Amino acid sequence: MALYSDKVMDHFRNPRNVGVIEDADGIGEVGNAKCGDIMKIYLKIDNDIITDVKFETFGCGSAIASSSMATELIKGKPVAEALQLTNKAVAEALDGLPAHKLHCSVLAEEAIKSALKDYYDKNNIEYDHTLFPDCASCGHGCDV
Ligand code: FES
Repeated sequence: MALYSDKVMDHFRNPRNVGVIEDADGIGEVGNAKCGDIMKIYLKIDNDIITDVKFETFGCGSAIASSSMATELIKGKPVAEALQLTNKAVAEALDGLPAHKLHCSVLAEEAIKSALKDYYDKNNIEYDHTLFPDCASCGHGCDV
């Protein structure tokens, strides 16, 4: 069996939603301390709906494929639904990732959560703090 699914290869070769949103409502950036890969997510949110999402990822192929798939999964969705996105859902939507590459999909989940947290913070919206990992201790180096 090939190491990477057709979907991973497709999203790696033709990533969806690459770029920057200049007037983003929420920006999240996370890095993996071990591999040094960095992922940045930009969200445009209107009436609690994610109307646009873009990403920049400096990292491995799995990280690029995960960012691409993750942005597709949350586009057009309510903020509350995007918050439920797990790395498992991203990996499943890609028809799986090799075990040693699962952490790349974790980066996508964390980058989106970080961007949503930024949106909440900028707009003084109350939120359940347990939804977000303890930034000081998670070790992923996100800058929120
Ligand atoms: Fe770093 Fe994939 S190896 S995110």
